[in-house]
Amino acid sequence: MNSGGDPFDAVDFDFSRLGEREKYKLLIGAVVPRPIAWVTTVDKAGRVNAAPFSFFNCLSAEPAILALGVEYRPSGFSKDTGRNIRDTQAFTVNIVSGALMDAMNVTAVPFDAGVDELAHAGLRTRPGVKVPSPAIAESPAAFECRHHVTLSIGNSREIILGEVVYAHLHRGIVNERLHVDHVGLDAIGRMGGHGYATTRDYFELPTMTVEQWEKETRPASAATAR
Ligand SMILES: Cc1cc2nc3c(=O)[nH]c(=O)nc-3n(C[C@H](O)[C@H](O)[C@H](O)COP(=O)(O)O)c2cc1C
Repeated sequence: MNSGGDPFDAVDFDFSRLGEREKYKLLIGAVVPRPIAWVTTVDKAGRVNAAPFSFFNCLSAEPAILALGVEYRPSGFSKDTGRNIRDTQAFTVNIVSGALMDAMNVTAVPFDAGVDELAHAGLRTRPGVKVPSPAIAESPAAFECRHHVTLSIGNSREIILGEVVYAHLHRGIVNERLHVDHVGLDAIGRMGGHGYATTRDYFELPTMTVEQWEKETRPASAATAR
């Protein structure tokens, strides 16, 4: 798309003039990679439901808050996940590893309410300890959440905040200092469209003190300009 001129030349978009689909395409294409919450819930009868959500992130550690953006179905009705959270005040966020990609995709199929997507995907569960929803046993990390608050932000979706009250991590991926091994976790992220990204292209970049910046990074011209 770059015509060879100024590499920082910009195409501008006034969001007040864009339709829902256009905003969606720009946001999900550029705000990447998004982590994926593979959410397990139960309905009032205790039937298990699972589905992935990439309008998702960890927003706070104390209280420990995870946020989900859950759309309504085109019919205007809640997705099973949203309805179950409203009914039971709880959900579990499971992290998707590379090995679980295909199983995760099966659980995104819009099955009828009451269908056990986890059974269709050939997955096992571990019972919830503090919530009625189970964790996905194969998932390397699962966070049990109690419903904290739901933000109504329009008539097509809602933002659900949950407080993490319990976590299950595969033994091999967390050490006694509570460092999580990103290689063992092998989380995948969502890109635009049907794209995904792995977290295998990992590097470290420690934040510097002002003194370190002055010594190691500050351009010589800036150092002499004072
Ligand atoms: C990777 C991925 C991410 C998704 N993210 C979202 C999302 O953030 N919000 C949403 O409403 N639907 C999202 N979906 C679609 C839901 O997973 C899908 O509508 C699912 O059928 C909902 O299931 P439920 O009715 O059992 O809750 C996503 C699908 C995939 C494959």
